[in-house]
Amino acid sequence: MELLSIDPLHPDAAAIAHAAELLRAGRLVAFPTETVYGLGANALDPRAVERIYAAKGRPAYNPLIVHVASVELVSSVATAWPERAARLADAFWPGPLTMVLPKRSVVPDGVTAGLPSVAVRVPSHPVAHALLAAAQIPVAAPSANRSMMLSPTTGRHVARSLGDAVDLILDAGPTTVGIESTVVDLTSEEPVLLRPGTISLVQLEAVLGPVRRVSASNSDAARPSPGMLDRHYSPRAALFIASAAEVARQCANVQARGQRAGALVIDAPAPAGAITTRLARDAGEYASHLYAALHDLDDAGCDAIIVEQVPDGPAWLGVRDRLARAARSGGESGGGHP
Ligand code: TXA
Ligand code: MG
Repeated sequence: MELLSIDPLHPDAAAIAHAAELLRAGRLVAFPTETVYGLGANALDPRAVERIYAAKGRPAYNPLIVHVASVELVSSVATAWPERAARLADAFWPGPLTMVLPKRSVVPDGVTAGLPSVAVRVPSHPVAHALLAAAQIPVAAPSANRSMMLSPTTGRHVARSLGDAVDLILDAGPTTVGIESTVVDLTSEEPVLLRPGTISLVQLEAVLGPVRRVSASNSDAARPSPGMLDRHYSPRAALFIASAAEVARQCANVQARGQRAGALVIDAPAPAGAITTRLARDAGEYASHLYAALHDLDDAGCDAIIVEQVPDGPAWLGVRDRLARAARSGGESGGGHP
């Protein structure tokens, strides 16, 4: 595995050309996007795509997002470009929004897990954009982590999670958005929010009108898309969600068992003896730092992480979804006690 540091705003052309060459040759390149780091491969090369699944230990039924350099290139992978997709692109691309559209037959089944649709996104990160423009191919890229684990927001996170399973990592330091893109399905009459992100339901509805929301659920029938497994985005430590008033007591429970407690708080006082990280009461800021904070608490050897419940507002939907999926007992409240 090769790791290249690259300037996030003015990426070095030689490094980009090298990475683009590897992609064109069917190799795996991890690169920063504004959300999280992606594990990229040529989306039109079935063997390259196969390598992504092997590197991540990802189940074959979980489809990948295809990244392209500009709106004009969506037609290389999708057969339809409905008017509402154009409106979404105007409002949010390049940026942290993924649209699910009917797929072109050149897209291998491995990318879409056999579905007739393909997920597409035009990322805004200058390194991602430069790489896609140089490679001149659509790039399939899931988050660059082992399946089910926390997504990486730094090159170092990628290196630790995937090691030699990846050929090259372009390390541009921390990403800004911090959680994965909002995913909207446009293949049926009614748009469906499959995965909330930092572009909120309110913002989507301002452009699209009513959008149906599929909630996280344990039932197969209600599973919004094949890969949306409930347990996901998880640190190694057990994660529990608690009200501000309960954080200290739950940390004490963990410590009473002789285990190391971590706390991720907004307003709650730092619990005695717990390794505490404080994040801002601002959904965007919180999302930006969430995964790095969880990675750090894992690294500090925490056995359990007690997370102070985040606010209810629409801007927090993406963060609430990730925390609920990371929590041991599942459910939107996170439930359960350490
Ligand atoms: O921010 C992001 O979206 C990052 C960066 C790298 O772009 N990528 C990412 O990819 O989060 P991944 O593979 O971790 O998540 C892709 C999600 C999965 O939940 C998958 O089920 C859904 O997109 N998806 C992909 N293709 C789909 C399709 N055809 N229909 C429905 N859902 C799909
Ligand atoms: Mg992922």
